[in-house]
Amino acid sequence: MKFSPPRKRFENTPPKQKIVYTKRIGCFARDGLLMTGDSSVDFQLEDKVVIVTGSARGIGEAIAEAFGSAKCCVVIADRMARKDGFGRCEALAERINQSGGQGLVTQVDISERTQVEKMIQATLQKFGRVDVLVSNAGMMRGGSLLETDEDNLRQQFEINVKGSFICCQLVAKQMIKQGSGGKIVVISSVSGIEAEEGVLAYSSSKASLNVMVKCMAVELAPHKINVNAIAPGWVETEMTIPYLNKDLVKEINMRIPLGCMAKPDQIAGGALFLASPLADYITGHVLVIDGGLLSNITIKTAQGVPKVGY
Ligand SMILES: NC(=O)c1ccc[n+]([C@@H]2O[C@H](COP(=O)([O-])OP(=O)(O)OC[C@H]3O[C@@H](n4cnc5c(N)ncnc54)[C@H](O)[C@@H]3O)[C@@H](O)[C@H]2O)c1
Repeated sequence: MKFSPPRKRFENTPPKQKIVYTKRIGCFARDGLLMTGDSSVDFQLEDKVVIVTGSARGIGEAIAEAFGSAKCCVVIADRMARKDGFGRCEALAERINQSGGQGLVTQVDISERTQVEKMIQATLQKFGRVDVLVSNAGMMRGGSLLETDEDNLRQQFEINVKGSFICCQLVAKQMIKQGSGGKIVVISSVSGIEAEEGVLAYSSSKASLNVMVKCMAVELAPHKINVNAIAPGWVETEMTIPYLNKDLVKEINMRIPLGCMAKPDQIAGGALFLASPLADYITGHVLVIDGGLLSNITIKTAQGVPKVGY
């Protein structure tokens, strides 16, 4: 089976750019931009039942679509599924159906236990089991230490930490009941690994997820349930785009060794891998997908990189 990226990625390709297909790493390299490509990797996920929270748009949407391309039964679970995101979720389900998978749309607020229970019930009713959870739904509100009020802190912990905790706990219970293991992938952030000024509560909530993943991995290992996180760097989604202007994008891209922010489907490849049997021996890991951002401590001035030790 093949994982084919959404076609829109290629429509954006300027005609004169040279595209190189590097089969060994399964991606296209284009002017310093790495794209999750039409690789021949078989993720062996056919017929797996996958819940993706927060999949009405952005990274979750791309992840749901990728699992659809891998012929999975995909539960598109979002709090705006039956509201603003209605048409969008239905269209995503249709694309999944067209690509050989099956899509199911459910409305859920992950911070409400009863709603998450209903989401799992709907999944069982339609598909009979749960094999994979991608706990992706999250929100971001800015604020430094001196600016952040308790409402800001509470809201982000309520969704990012408590919501993810409820989903993981209830899905893990279901997987244990099924007795055939499973895979849980939690979407955290590089902001939960190193400090990013101005997003104190968000970063703290994501750091909490990175440790929670390790605790869950240890606890669930005897049940053959792998638990890992993906920590994306900057990704172009409706969460970030409203704050971006041309100058800021230029600054961000200069900091990223691979030269640009990620597109959502570049995060999806990591989720497919961690959910697949190829990752059976990986648990408690935080997979950073950031174009090299965290590895880069280069300080660039207007004169360029300071020459030290020449
Ligand atoms: N975009 C980035 O640069 C970036 C970087 C690192 C990590 N992340 C993380 O990736 C995840 C997805 O981010 P995105 O950029 O696609 O965001 P987004 O805002 O575009 O999409 C988030 C989705 O989650 C849903 N959602 C939010 N709260 C929910 C709730 N309580 N219950 C159910 N659904 C809910 C929203 O309706 C939306 O569809 C988030 O956890 C985010 O923190 C994003």
